[in-house]
Amino acid sequence: MRSVEWVDGKLQLIDQRVLPQEFRLVTYDNYRDVADAIYTMVVRGAPAIGATAAFGMVLAALEGAARQQVLPTLETAAATLCAARPTAVNLSWAVARLLGRARLEADPMAIPQALLAEAQALADEDVEINKRLGEFGASLVRNGDTILHHCNTGALATVDYGTALGVIRTAHEQGKHIHVLVDETRPRLQGARLTAWELTQLGIPFTLIADNAAGHFMRTGQVDLVMVGADRVAANGDVANKIGTYKLAVVAQANGIPFYPCVPTSTVDLSLPSGDDIPIEERPADEVLGISYQGQTIAPEGTHVANPAFDVTPRQYISGIVTERGIAYPPFDLALARLAGDSHAAASTD
Ligand code: MRU
Repeated sequence: MRSVEWVDGKLQLIDQRVLPQEFRLVTYDNYRDVADAIYTMVVRGAPAIGATAAFGMVLAALEGAARQQVLPTLETAAATLCAARPTAVNLSWAVARLLGRARLEADPMAIPQALLAEAQALADEDVEINKRLGEFGASLVRNGDTILHHCNTGALATVDYGTALGVIRTAHEQGKHIHVLVDETRPRLQGARLTAWELTQLGIPFTLIADNAAGHFMRTGQVDLVMVGADRVAANGDVANKIGTYKLAVVAQANGIPFYPCVPTSTVDLSLPSGDDIPIEERPADEVLGISYQGQTIAPEGTHVANPAFDVTPRQYISGIVTERGIAYPPFDLALARLAGDSHAAASTD
């Protein structure tokens, strides 16, 4: 089943906060609650929050139509949804696509139906894109490889199938014997909670490791390649992804291990010259402090916390960027312009 789906006139999401203990579906009937679901990470992962925001725009169009205020409501919803999480460009890309579609419609009352068709198309495309990306990426995977993976980039992080985890899934479906080292991914543990859950369902062998152990496994020759997702790729090839990715890339290069971000071209933002221009989301302190050790809180009361949710990996540490249109190799500026030149052509919320 899809992690983001339109069911009986409402948006249905898998609640990713409670996995793997509980499989819970939640439904939304207004865009404000959808924005809150994105911020509180009921749904997370760049492509999944893009598709979620697209259906949020459908809900806004329905609300606007009931008040004869379709475009003004959509403009307010666009701003609210885009503000929910700033780093993943798929969010603003999807919102801009839906807003652009609405502005093409002469009859405002026809907008809700047109936006529903557009959001459905975006969601369907996401699944197809991931499968194509999976084929390109799997060409990099050899029988017997051990792949280090960070965060969660699977079916849960997309509409279905996944990006880096989609590559792993394709390689497995091709009959390659692979093993996945799953970074637990502090502070929200997307690796331990979500990637381990998905790999279990798929029957793909894996070992969960503490984030701090990744360097040890790389230095001791136990990793053949590193595959991750991304929330935004700048025009020069710098990549923003889940906090901790940069450290993996540096250690991978120091040990001669290839490092591949796997992204749909909607994650490529050619309007930003470099990763320095990518906004990095700062999340609440309780994400870091919220776990317990032997039943106790982990830090003294009043401890100051910094919690950037993403980091930027400069392009010199990246072997190639896998997309649904092929693999971009250095020089990345040329390769990305060729592969993703049209990806955000119509994307503007202005
Ligand atoms: O904070 P999250 O869980 O939304 O972060 C997700 C990631 O960093 C993923 O690697 C990225 O969004 C790509 S998901 C296909």
